[in-house]
Amino acid sequence: MEKSNPKRILVVGLLCVDIIAECDSYPIEDTDQRCREMRKQKGGNGANTSYVLAEFGISVDLLTNIGSGNDMEFVKMSMSSVNLSKSLHVNEPMPTSLVIINAQNGSRTILHSGQSLPELKLDDFTRINLSEYRWIHFEGRSSNAENICEMIAFIRHFNHNTEDPIIISIEIEKCREEIICFFDKADVVFVSKDHVKFHGYHTPEDGIQNLITKCKPGATLICAWGDKGAWAKPPSGEIVKSSAYPPKKVIDTLGAGDTFNATMIYSLMQNIPLQQSLDIACRISGAKVGQKGYHGLREQIEDYFIKSGCVM
Ligand SMILES: Nc1ncnc2c1ncn2[C@@H]1O[C@H](COP(=O)(O)OP(=O)(O)OP(=O)(O)O)[C@@H](O)[C@H]1O
Ligand SMILES: *[C@@H]1O[C@H](CO)[C@@H](O)[C@H](O)[C@H]1NC(C)=O
Ligand SMILES: *[C@@H]1O[C@H](CO)[C@@H](O)[C@H](O)[C@H]1NC(C)=O
Ligand SMILES: *[C@@H]1O[C@H](CO)[C@@H](O)[C@H](O)[C@H]1NC(C)=O
Ligand SMILES: *[C@@H]1O[C@H](CO)[C@@H](O)[C@H](O)[C@H]1NC(C)=O
Ligand SMILES: *[C@@H]1O[C@H](CO)[C@@H](O)[C@H](O)[C@H]1NC(C)=O
Repeated sequence: MEKSNPKRILVVGLLCVDIIAECDSYPIEDTDQRCREMRKQKGGNGANTSYVLAEFGISVDLLTNIGSGNDMEFVKMSMSSVNLSKSLHVNEPMPTSLVIINAQNGSRTILHSGQSLPELKLDDFTRINLSEYRWIHFEGRSSNAENICEMIAFIRHFNHNTEDPIIISIEIEKCREEIICFFDKADVVFVSKDHVKFHGYHTPEDGIQNLITKCKPGATLICAWGDKGAWAKPPSGEIVKSSAYPPKKVIDTLGAGDTFNATMIYSLMQNIPLQQSLDIACRISGAKVGQKGYHGLREQIEDYFIKSGCVM
């Protein structure tokens, strides 16, 4: 069946607001002091991944519950490149995270609020016309594991009855028991270094070799390991790896993960082999780490695709 837009992706996850205070040192209780910089920005893994995909020129929809309050318009504006028409407005405060960065050693202290925002339910998902999508990516939220598994089962059912099945990916980040059930649900699984360590494995090879047994047959397991690069196991064959591509100077590592995940999705969606996709993702996220924001990354990706003879 022909898709209306062959590049369309749906991301399912959280949209929230981050308030980031960068301080010379961790603040002392009951004092009144200045900080270096305070900024507000959109956040949430689902929101960030969809945002980076849109920066790369992909047409992407985000399915999320959009909270209300003063920050709602601000957050929607900073997500203007992502299509939010499938998302739902709910009358609960927008989830907000307060991040205190201690500039001495970069430590991040994070306070979350907004637990009253309802999680997405299967009913919210079944309204979606699945024929519009080639790929659906899930933020593997521990507080919503059951609903996410139901949504994935719904896609699987759809996939059984079509010649054009949707590829499902999920990210497994936190050190929580509740998210282990996600391993065997997706075609492409992103697992974090922290989650690998949570299972007691100390290297990405060891982690992948063992955790691949939790995935469904034919799945791809991908693990980024900070400045060491990234590793992945294809459906058949040995583990592949890519080194990191460090920039001349590290400017901003926030957002390296989004860039890496989004580049992998972008590249795999265009049937680029796993090894080459990993290499491109490490190059693009390495470039990201060397700058603030995402400008110029789209041109770099397009360059790699043209050089490798891929038609987009
Ligand atoms: N300091 C660095 N130098 C070069 N490349 C880096 C650096 N940090 C991250 N990267 C690149 O970004 C990719 C993803 O980084 P990382 O493993 O830190 O992701 P993450 O933990 O998911 O990030 P986040 O903190 O954004 O959630 C790495 O595989 C690597 O290619
Ligand atoms: C989301 O992106 C913003 C930049 O727009 C960044 O500051 C923040 O750390 C990112 N959050 C996550 C969870 O990656
Ligand atoms: C968002 O998607 C809807 C359909 O899902 C479409 O009608 C609308 O034009 C899209 N908006 C943008 C800005 O592309
Ligand atoms: C960062 O420095 C503070 C002291 O300012 C210390 O208490 C804290 O443990 C350090 N954190 C890390 C992650 O090194
Ligand atoms: C679902 O989307 C497909 C592809 O865009 C379209 O052909 C079909 O008419 C849509 N179905 C409904 C019920 O809107
Ligand atoms: C990318 O995937 C990794 C591995 O699961 C995860 O730790 C990270 O938070 C993801 N980043 C985003 C923005 O989804």
